[in-house]
Amino acid sequence: MADHPKSHLWPFVPSSRIIDVVRAHGVWLELADGTRILDAAGGAIAASIGHGRKEVAEATAAAMAETGYIVPTFLTPQRERLIERLRQSWLPKNLTRVHLSSGGSEAADAAIRLARMHHIATGNDSRWKIIGREPSYHGATALTLAVGGHRARQKGFEQYAGQFPKVPAPYGLRSPLGRHHRDEDLRCAQALENTIVSEGPDTVAAFMAESITGSSGGALQPGPRYWPEVQRICRQYGVLLIIDEVMTGFGRTGRRFGIEHFEIEPDIMFAGKGLTGGYAPLAGIYTTDNVVEPLAARGESLMFYTYGGHPGACAAADKVLEIIERDHLVARAAEQGDKLKALLDDRLANHPHVAEIRGRGLLWGIELVADRDTLERFSPDAGITNAVVGAGLREGAFFYPGGTGEVRDVICLGPAFTVSDDELEMMADRLLLAINAATLRQAAA
Ligand SMILES: Cc1ncc(COP(=O)(O)O)c(C=O)c1O
Repeated sequence: MADHPKSHLWPFVPSSRIIDVVRAHGVWLELADGTRILDAAGGAIAASIGHGRKEVAEATAAAMAETGYIVPTFLTPQRERLIERLRQSWLPKNLTRVHLSSGGSEAADAAIRLARMHHIATGNDSRWKIIGREPSYHGATALTLAVGGHRARQKGFEQYAGQFPKVPAPYGLRSPLGRHHRDEDLRCAQALENTIVSEGPDTVAAFMAESITGSSGGALQPGPRYWPEVQRICRQYGVLLIIDEVMTGFGRTGRRFGIEHFEIEPDIMFAGKGLTGGYAPLAGIYTTDNVVEPLAARGESLMFYTYGGHPGACAAADKVLEIIERDHLVARAAEQGDKLKALLDDRLANHPHVAEIRGRGLLWGIELVADRDTLERFSPDAGITNAVVGAGLREGAFFYPGGTGEVRDVICLGPAFTVSDDELEMMADRLLLAINAATLRQAAA
C-alpha cells in the first residue's frame, strides 16, 4: 500500500499516491518535480479568486502582527470589518446575526446546536430531530455526518445516522416518476411534509439542506416549485429551515448564494469555503434576530470553537470579499460558467458514458454511467470516479470526486472565478481524455 517515499509522513492513513505541491498560482499547482497541474476544482471547490494572491497574504500578515489570537467572544477590528461587509454587501437582509467557526463542518454543527437551543428557549423542548436529505453532505463531525446523507462517509456510523430522518433531494435525472419529470420537485417536498407528520411535528427542530448540492450529488438542482413548497411546509410546522451554502456560497454559482436562484428565506444559513477563497480556515453561521432573541432573553450564548473567527482568517476573508466585489468576480463566475458549460457540452454531451452535465456558474457535475439509455451505473468495484481523477492528474488536471457511494461516478468541476478562456478549454479537453481513459480501461476489463 504505502510505497511512496514520503508515505511515512503524510497522509495520516498511508497511501501510495501523494501529490506534493510546492507552489500555486492562479489556477495552477506546481509539484515538487516541476509538473504543473490545472486546478479544475479550486482544491475542494474552495479557491475562488485564484491561488497566490499577495494582497490576501499581506492583509493576513498585518492582522497576525496586530492581534495574534483573541478569544472569539471579543470584538477585534478584523472581525468588525468582516461582519460589517457581510451585512452590507453579502447576506440576505434578514440574516443579521453572524457567528464564526473555522470550517464548514463546525458551522453545520453550530447551526444544529443553534436550532435546538432556539426551540428549548422558546419552550419547545421536544423538538430535537434534524431532517436531512439524501444525497447530501454537511460535514465530517459525528453529528453532521449523521444529519447528512452521504452513505460512503457514514460507513461504520450508521447507528448515529439512523437517529435522523432523511428525505430525498430532487434528482431530475433519476426521478422515480421518470427522467426529469416535472413533478420531481413536488414529490420531494411532499416527502418532507410526510416525514414531519409521521415523526411528529413537535419532535422536529429543523430541516437541513444545500440550496444546490455540492459534490455529494454533483450540483443537483431542484425544479422551481421545490423551495417555495419546502419553505411553506417548514413554516406551517414550526420547523426551522437551515441552508448549507458551504460549497455554493460567495459567488460559486454565479450569484452571491445559491438561495438567490430560488428566493429562499432560511432561518439559519452557513457558508465557508469561498468566504476566504480558501486562504484561511473560516466559516460563518448567519441567522435572524428571531432565532437569536430567545437565547439572549435567557442569557445564553452559542459555545464557540477556540479558533472560530480568528483575526487572521477574518482579515483574509475581508480582503477576499473586497477583491470579489472590486473585480466583479461573481458576475465573472456566471460568465465563465456559461463558457464552461458550452465547452463541456461540446466535448461530452454525446459521450456514450455521460448521462448528464449539470450545474450553475462555476460548479459543475458530470454523471458517468455504464449505459446512458438505461442509466445503469458502473459497478462500485470499477472505481470509475477514482480512475477519472487519477487519469486527470496524469493529463495534468485535478477534478474533484463526487458522489456518496450510492450516487456515484460524478466528477465535479469548480475552478477559480478568474479562470481564463484558454484554461477552460484545457480543462474540458483534459476531462474528455480522463473520462475516455477511465471508461475505455473499464470496457477492456
Ligand atoms: C455542502 C458542504 N457542507 C459542509 C461541508 C463541510 O465543510 P468542511 O470540510 O469545511 O468542514 C462541505 C465540504 O465539502 C460541503 O461541501
